[in-house]
Amino acid sequence: MLNIKISTLIIALLLFAGCNTGQTNNKHKNSGAKTVVAKTTRAETADNSAGYRLMKQKCFICHLETPDPAKRSQMIAPPMVRVQQHYKPAYPTKEAFVKAVVAYVKNPSEAKTLMPGAVKRFKVMPKLIYDDKELQLIASALFETNFNNPGAMNRTAMQQAKLQLNNGKKWKLKKQTMQKVNVVVSKLQGFHSDNLSAYHQLGKDVFNLSKALLLDKSYKNDLYKQLQAFFHGIEENMHSLISAKDITAAQQQTEILKKKFNRFYQYFE
Ligand code: HEC
Repeated sequence: MLNIKISTLIIALLLFAGCNTGQTNNKHKNSGAKTVVAKTTRAETADNSAGYRLMKQKCFICHLETPDPAKRSQMIAPPMVRVQQHYKPAYPTKEAFVKAVVAYVKNPSEAKTLMPGAVKRFKVMPKLIYDDKELQLIASALFETNFNNPGAMNRTAMQQAKLQLNNGKKWKLKKQTMQKVNVVVSKLQGFHSDNLSAYHQLGKDVFNLSKALLLDKSYKNDLYKQLQAFFHGIEENMHSLISAKDITAAQQQTEILKKKFNRFYQYFE
């Protein structure tokens, strides 16, 4: 870390020196002008680019920026764009988002995760020590960054696994699991409210259910893949419900979720 800082400083000093020569030497008028332009752009996005640069240094060691099919098998953490896609619906304001990301990085845990699938696949993110201010900058850059990733959030996941029966039979889940599912499904079925935050809570209940199932260590291999396929299939609806901007949108997602959960019973028992 110190090395990176020192080399950044040296580069900055070299650039500064170059800029001075440009100004004192008439032959270098053009390069002088370029430097000025570069400086203004940087000033405008100072916080962002500082945060983004830090993210590159400290987070992209493990996280890819966006998914890359060629590197899929070497991945050791979810791509950053996925992290953003999971945190934004749950924490739509920048303030709440930054707080949640900082809290997670400072103390990663299954209890806090919004990405149970990633925890299952990669294990909980290691706890590393970061400077508080830097972490704030990184988290706000993560909120602001417009990752160049047009693909829908779970398209690749959907392509990977389709819901299938177990040799023509339903997959057997534990009694407790089915009870948990039933609780959420009956809440979904009868849900009516004119309170938007009640719908947001409903979305969170569905999310907590998916988390409980995906982190359940007794589900492995093919059965786990099927659970994952199901919850990937409702992920976007869950996120949309959690962050719905009005009752109509929330009702719409609730209806879709109800239908999708009907399918749950066709594949699991
Ligand atoms: C040593 C590897 C490593 C580094 C470095 C790393 N991460 Fe992670 N991160 C992971 C892994 C693995 C996961 C997936 C498991 C999990 O979610 O805990 C993850 C998940 C996350 C999540 C999702 C948490 C959730 O809800 O499950 C956030 C947010 C995150 N990382 C932020 C960061 C930020 C910000 C940085 C840089 C300051 C960073 N990470 C650096 C390995 C790393």
